[in-house]
Amino acid sequence: MDVVISDIHCPFQDKPLINAILKFIADSNPERLIIAGDLIDFYSISPFDRCLERAENMQYELDEARMILKNFKDAANDMKIFLILGNHEDRFEKYLNRKAPALRGLRDLTIERQLSMPEMNITLVPYIYEIMPGFIIKHGESVGRYPARGEYNKEFCNGISGHGHKTDICRSYSYKNDRGWYSIGHLANKSIIDKHYSKACRWSQSFAIIDYKYKYVADMVEIIECNEKGFYIKSKDNFYEKKI
Ligand SMILES: [Fe+2]
Repeated sequence: MDVVISDIHCPFQDKPLINAILKFIADSNPERLIIAGDLIDFYSISPFDRCLERAENMQYELDEARMILKNFKDAANDMKIFLILGNHEDRFEKYLNRKAPALRGLRDLTIERQLSMPEMNITLVPYIYEIMPGFIIKHGESVGRYPARGEYNKEFCNGISGHGHKTDICRSYSYKNDRGWYSIGHLANKSIIDKHYSKACRWSQSFAIIDYKYKYVADMVEIIECNEKGFYIKSKDNFYEKKI
């Protein structure tokens, strides 16, 4: 079984929700955890206008993200962790390109090094991770009402993506194929990030689990919707409560 999460947006993560996911991971011991981008917000180097009440300390953002990765690693020691780059991770390289191009070649000035990923045996994936033939995971580019449809129309294969910050499912049936694309929600603190973006976007919190004992993707993928209390895993008949 694999777990797919996305859009944690450190340091604005929903800590009680992350704690509940850590408990679920410790209980179920998945083979892989795939983080589909935007682990770090990189708010301090955002090209957009910044609000004073939000943190502007890159070291703090990186320390929080490193701690989350370490907690995931400690929750299930044999679980392989993959971090796919999202548009917020891109802010790091773009900032260097714009403001300090002479520093780009520095050996330790990479996201992998800044997050101590080699020491934790965590793999960085540039943009697309093929988990099995015809089934990919990516951060995604589609937003709006139907982000899953947007990604499916681009890739035309099975997939899971984040970026849209909301749960959306696009299915396609034919006599030979049974394809599906799943957009998963964010795992950030709603009271912080919703304040700064339109509520009309109807962002939601969710993640996915993939169970390979099934033949078809429609049966393999279970979307786990999260609310203010926690989340229910239907296949395990277990509720995980949000705890501080
Ligand atoms: Fe995001």
